[in-house]
Amino acid sequence: MTMNPIETIAVHDWQSPVARELAAHALDALEAGCVLRLPLPFALSADEQVLLSDTLLSGARKNISYNPVNNSVKGADGDAQLETLLRGMLGRYHASTRALALKLFAPYSGHMLDGRTSYRPAEIAGRVPKSWRHDDTRLHVDAFPATPVHGRRLLRFFNNVNPHGEPRRWNVGEPFADVAARFFPRLPDHSPLKARLMALTRITKSKRTAYDHYMLNLHDGMKADLDYQSQVAKTPAAFAPGETWIVYSDQVSHAVMSGRFMLEQTYYVPVAALQYPERSPLRVLEKLAGRALV
Ligand code: SIN
Ligand code: FE
Repeated sequence: MTMNPIETIAVHDWQSPVARELAAHALDALEAGCVLRLPLPFALSADEQVLLSDTLLSGARKNISYNPVNNSVKGADGDAQLETLLRGMLGRYHASTRALALKLFAPYSGHMLDGRTSYRPAEIAGRVPKSWRHDDTRLHVDAFPATPVHGRRLLRFFNNVNPHGEPRRWNVGEPFADVAARFFPRLPDHSPLKARLMALTRITKSKRTAYDHYMLNLHDGMKADLDYQSQVAKTPAAFAPGETWIVYSDQVSHAVMSGRFMLEQTYYVPVAALQYPERSPLRVLEKLAGRALV
């Protein structure tokens, strides 16, 4: 079957069973580095409508983050009642995406680790980022400096809950194999000694593996290269309110151009649970490096 960078998957509700062929196609497309687009709205209750405001963000933050493991919320300014509403909405989003994942990606069952749930009410367009590294309007693959993943995949579920009819606009860049082939030869070598020191001094939450090192440098290398940013082929995508999109954001080159009011759930998936592990960033980079990276 031919696949587009953005592949529509006809799932319209969070609960109903998904046909086997559709699930197999969704998993194939996801692991091939497509963005899965689903006509799948996430409904807010009447009480939760008050959350559709960016005044609940604390200070200059762009996200409110929820930890499904201990039910805690960070980044929101507001009273206890608002916080209870946020917990309810984000907890339900977490549960909904998990239920959907287990139907669409059955082989991941028992292997998906919960990451954070986030709510992003602030407008992206016109924001001044803290630095070019934080500028998500530049194409990049996701990798985080303080939180090594040791080869695990970053699987993310997005939903546009914008009440004003505004889309969330993304650009999708070239396939991961092309990004890696282009940037890998210029990346600095991994230093195990430096990685140990960063873990000891708690700059990183655990030891940064060679894989984490190369992913982080890919992220930075892409964002720092303005010629690359302007010249590389991009596919624009506008995700309308009521759409869900699912992405391996460590693999799909992406940038966000505009939009406000979005929900996001992160999961960590071990490479061993993948249907097509050879397509993963870990295996692609290991091939280029000629050695194991975790
Ligand atoms: C990103 O991961 O680059 C941000 C995506 C978004 O906020 O839409
Ligand atoms: Fe990103």
